[in-house]
Amino acid sequence: MVLPTTAVTINKRRLLRDLNAVSRIGIGDHGSVTRLVFSIKELRGRQFLIHLMRQAGLQVHIDRIGNIFGRLDGSNPKAPAVLVGSHLDTVLHGGKFDGTMGVIGALEAVRALKEQKVMLRSPVEVVCFVGEESSRFGYSTLGSSLVAGEVHGADLSNAADAQGTRLEDILSSLGIYRSNLRSMRRDPASVKAYLELHIEQGPILEAKKKPIGVVTSIAAPTRFRVVFTGQADHSGTTPMEMRKDALVAASELVVAVEKISRRYSRMEKGRVVGTVGAMKIEPGVINAIPGKAELSVDIRSITASAKNRVVRLVQAKIREIARRRHVRIEILPIREENPVPLDKRLVHLLKECCEAKGIAYEVMPSGAGHDAMQMAKITPSGMLFIPSRRGISHSPLEWSDPEDICLGTQLLLDSIVRVANEKI
Ligand code: GLV
Ligand code: MN
Ligand code: MN
Repeated sequence: MVLPTTAVTINKRRLLRDLNAVSRIGIGDHGSVTRLVFSIKELRGRQFLIHLMRQAGLQVHIDRIGNIFGRLDGSNPKAPAVLVGSHLDTVLHGGKFDGTMGVIGALEAVRALKEQKVMLRSPVEVVCFVGEESSRFGYSTLGSSLVAGEVHGADLSNAADAQGTRLEDILSSLGIYRSNLRSMRRDPASVKAYLELHIEQGPILEAKKKPIGVVTSIAAPTRFRVVFTGQADHSGTTPMEMRKDALVAASELVVAVEKISRRYSRMEKGRVVGTVGAMKIEPGVINAIPGKAELSVDIRSITASAKNRVVRLVQAKIREIARRRHVRIEILPIREENPVPLDKRLVHLLKECCEAKGIAYEVMPSGAGHDAMQMAKITPSGMLFIPSRRGISHSPLEWSDPEDICLGTQLLLDSIVRVANEKI
């Protein structure tokens, strides 16, 4: 029997308690949280979630990469499932809420349904995707990309961490090879929709004093590494005009990425951002001219044409720097994606969920990447945001107010009920 579901409510204390418990896994200085993908802390985070799911009486399934699915049956167990979740891995020295809130929020919503004996038409699966963050390998949304069948062999060639561990080697230790990359793809016929609750990670909601964002689309990155190779040499004896300094060449690029991105963000109404977030120098000592400098470039936009234009200009600049400074260059692609629109019917449904409770909301794009951008390729996908204090994230200063967390989770529950029970 499908029961009326208008009054299912989350348990706020339990939600905040479990959010706190997860954030203690990997806690470091100044309240930072570090659970890099495939680290011991990240595995412990996933293990804790499995424990919570089992405690809640969900059927737990773990796929080969380690994505976790906790299922609550619906009145029609054969109906396609509504997937709801996010990720538990973090950046280096990140915050407590990015990803974690979406996973624990989804768990709380499903626990409330089970506890209040509300059976929905479709099954609901709480999902924790592995490796959403690109901090370790430069490769983002790993688990959800595998579920969407969107990981391609060539993508893996240049994905390695700062210690040189190759993502591909880790994958093969898990039984995942170029030949079976699509074996984790979820049959789209088995999924009705995907919902994700996330912190905004930007300043818009706070500035507009709105507690909820309904997301329309997700900006996509083009990412690559650039290696400048000059000549390592003695810093005391090599005359200035005889040097091939790889770091000075790389530094020109850092400034150029900012300059070009700023030029286009102004022209295209803030729609392009470009970042050099990591750099490695060899030999990296005070008394030698740097012979090698390797840096990461991350260019994102909500508009593919604007992003591609900036990418082309940056790559032309790299070649120009190399010619002028007589250094060698390699451009190693990591990933190139297109901006992803979210499902219009779900945008509408999420707006209605807010309106039904008289909650002010902002309809907005997402500048950050999310697992929803992969899930949108196999199923209708929708996202809710809650405000981030001062717009800060990927930092120990990341903070969202408990009231907003609870409100976002309650709206997530309301939307799960509608998506699972209604024709969408
Ligand atoms: C994920 O947080 C991203 O880098 O956008
Ligand atoms: Mn993040
Ligand atoms: Mn995230």
